[in-house]
Amino acid sequence: MDQDKEPKPVEQEISRRDFFAKLGIGSLGLATVGTLSFAYRYLSPNVLFEPSPIVNAGNVEDYSMNSVTLLPTEAIYVVRLPEGIFSLTAICTHLGCMTAWKPELGIIACPCHGSQFSREGQKLAGPAPRPLPWLRTWLSDDRDVMVDRATHVPPFQFLRI
Ligand code: FES
Repeated sequence: MDQDKEPKPVEQEISRRDFFAKLGIGSLGLATVGTLSFAYRYLSPNVLFEPSPIVNAGNVEDYSMNSVTLLPTEAIYVVRLPEGIFSLTAICTHLGCMTAWKPELGIIACPCHGSQFSREGQKLAGPAPRPLPWLRTWLSDDRDVMVDRATHVPPFQFLRI
């Protein structure tokens, strides 16, 4: 008889109705989260954040006369001649390889298919369809050479210094 008086463990029984109610609430929560995440993506601006095309190439006095300087991370040449200073893209106009200045030959050469350019970017040989574009170049107030890689200018527009 004593055994009958001991409290029995409370069994947590879930009725069929409670089970489906909880299942419905859970499904509704998942649907709400999914809808909110899609709404967030839809309302977020869909833009690419690219680095500025404006390059500070350093002080103009760092470029000696008759020099061709490749800035590999910017993919540009800064060229200083007696006529002035200017910048060129270092990307070959054939298929986009990075070119290299060959001081012993006095040319800019592309290692991929052999295009050659003068130090003013004019095409000398190879399959490149166009000369290397000149880039907008100016001096800052601190006499730093500034280059806009996104803006091409007609060739032989030297920046007189
Ligand atoms: S990519 Fe320069 S010659 Fe082809």
